Amino acid sequence: MKIFIDTANVREIKEAVSMGIVDGVTTNPTLVAKENRSMTELLEEICALVSGPVSAEVISLQTEEMVSEARKLSRIAKNIVVKIPLIKEGLQAVRVLSREGIKTNVTLCFSPSQALLAAKVGADFISPFIGRFDDISQEGMDLIRNIKLIYSNYNFKTEIIVASVRNPMHIVEAAKIGADIATVPFAVIEQLIKHPLTDIGIQRFLKDWEKVSQIQTQKVSSAR
Ligand code: E4P
Repeated sequence: MKIFIDTANVREIKEAVSMGIVDGVTTNPTLVAKENRSMTELLEEICALVSGPVSAEVISLQTEEMVSEARKLSRIAKNIVVKIPLIKEGLQAVRVLSREGIKTNVTLCFSPSQALLAAKVGADFISPFIGRFDDISQEGMDLIRNIKLIYSNYNFKTEIIVASVRNPMHIVEAAKIGADIATVPFAVIEQLIKHPLTDIGIQRFLKDWEKVSQIQTQKVSSAR
């Protein structure tokens, strides 16, 4: 499963890239707003850091405006993928963009029927937001299972990006289902690495190793 980082923060992206686990980046208007910078400049910097897809979202809600915004975004860098919201006008825009060869990530997907339509109009990626279901006490991962089944039944090429990830179990479940990608906030990437038994194990090895170094020191001083 590919891992994207869900952030517009350059420091976080650099650190995750240095770990060697980042296959792409997703941003959204909320994440970009947090950075307090020009969006174009920010995207240029991010696209230079990561060779995989970098999603940038349109703000317009009308088809023609979305298409022209998408064309502008796609000129920023070769790896830009344009995020389009899952509304009627958005699907129409995806159809146009897909014919022009501009890559799209259809976002704010909350149902299998929406995902089916996104695939039919030629979306390259679909982003079902599972955490927002969990936030309202509904099982978000069911949506991933259903989309995976539908896409497999009809051999759709649209890749599933598990989005709105809140914790490591979301990634494990997504991988078990066979989702193509999970887009993960930096804090959750760090949680993925951590295990208390690993930390306890390291402490124990280091403590035991102290005995070995003591024996070595004793041997050296008695040989003198
Ligand atoms: C995905 O592309 C979105 O940027 C993101 O996952 C939204 O997550 P949120 O529900 O934490 O805002």
